[in-house]
Amino acid sequence: MKASAISHSNIALIKYWGRQEDGGRGMNLPLNDNVSMTKEGISGGSKLMSHTTVEFSRSYEMDSMVLEGRELTGRELERVRLVVDPLRTKAGVEEHFRIGSRNDFPTAAGLASSAAGFSALAIAASSALGLDLSREELSTWARLGSGSAVRSLHGGFVYWHKGSSHETSFAEKVCQGAPFPLNAVIAIVNEGRKGVSSDVGHEHAHTSPFNSIRTELSQKEALLVRDAILDNDLRTVGSIAERNSKYMHAVMMTSDLPLYYWQGETLKVIRSVHAMRDRGLEVYFTIDAGPNVHCLCRPEDALEVQKELEGGEHVLRTIIARPAEDPHTIDEHLF
Ligand code: PMV
Repeated sequence: MKASAISHSNIALIKYWGRQEDGGRGMNLPLNDNVSMTKEGISGGSKLMSHTTVEFSRSYEMDSMVLEGRELTGRELERVRLVVDPLRTKAGVEEHFRIGSRNDFPTAAGLASSAAGFSALAIAASSALGLDLSREELSTWARLGSGSAVRSLHGGFVYWHKGSSHETSFAEKVCQGAPFPLNAVIAIVNEGRKGVSSDVGHEHAHTSPFNSIRTELSQKEALLVRDAILDNDLRTVGSIAERNSKYMHAVMMTSDLPLYYWQGETLKVIRSVHAMRDRGLEVYFTIDAGPNVHCLCRPEDALEVQKELEGGEHVLRTIIARPAEDPHTIDEHLF
């Protein structure tokens, strides 16, 4: 009863921020449908990938998990159990688990490490338990660990239906990368852990006066972006993704737990993106819950965008990413 999986992280083009009221059941149902690209790093020595091994055995006296060499406790281990327990029950297994997980990129720095991690966890755990579940169903279980993990259950471009119940809030693939050639050049300006986790941030979204308008606009924009991806229309995808990201940060900054994920360096990267666009280079930005900036462009422009970004002293390094393949099980175990 042992299996391993790899899964990539994802960058939201239409954001998930704030959750539907569910009476404290922790279902992570988003307020609006949202869209992302599951991303594979192709430069900078990072594939933006999580590798996770799960084993159930009678020899384990309790559940445990090691992430990046660190033994998880408290809320962190609790979130892992939220994903594994229903799968363990489904399989009729009572054995405890041992889990090892490694990311090849900074954990909790707004690069969606939890998305890659919980997606790999759902795949490895279900495989170790001998369950044969569809990607859509697996996405609902990964969602219980971290909302955005739902979207990493598919490669390429992905649509998360917000739904209104556990079963109806799942991720569906829009398309693999080919119909919409897109790269994200990630400008890393800070690799540290973020001060406030998105897990906590979501809970405060409803206190912003801009929350309902962001939700309403995002619901419409999710559909527009899905269509534009299928039409290979970068201008529409990029410009909507850019403004949708700003809506999310406006909500973050104006909630009763004000969250300023941007740093001075973040704004400098935004200015570079504007300058490149003024020069006729088609590039757009989007920012998650951290200071780093994803610059969206055509693959043939990625090196030029990278060169421009790396020319700024405020950028520590860059990673170029493209649409990833589907996550899958692998034979190499971490322990
Ligand atoms: O899945 P969480 O709880 O880490 O939420 C992350 C939300 C954002 O990354 C900020 C936006 C998104 O849609 O991925």
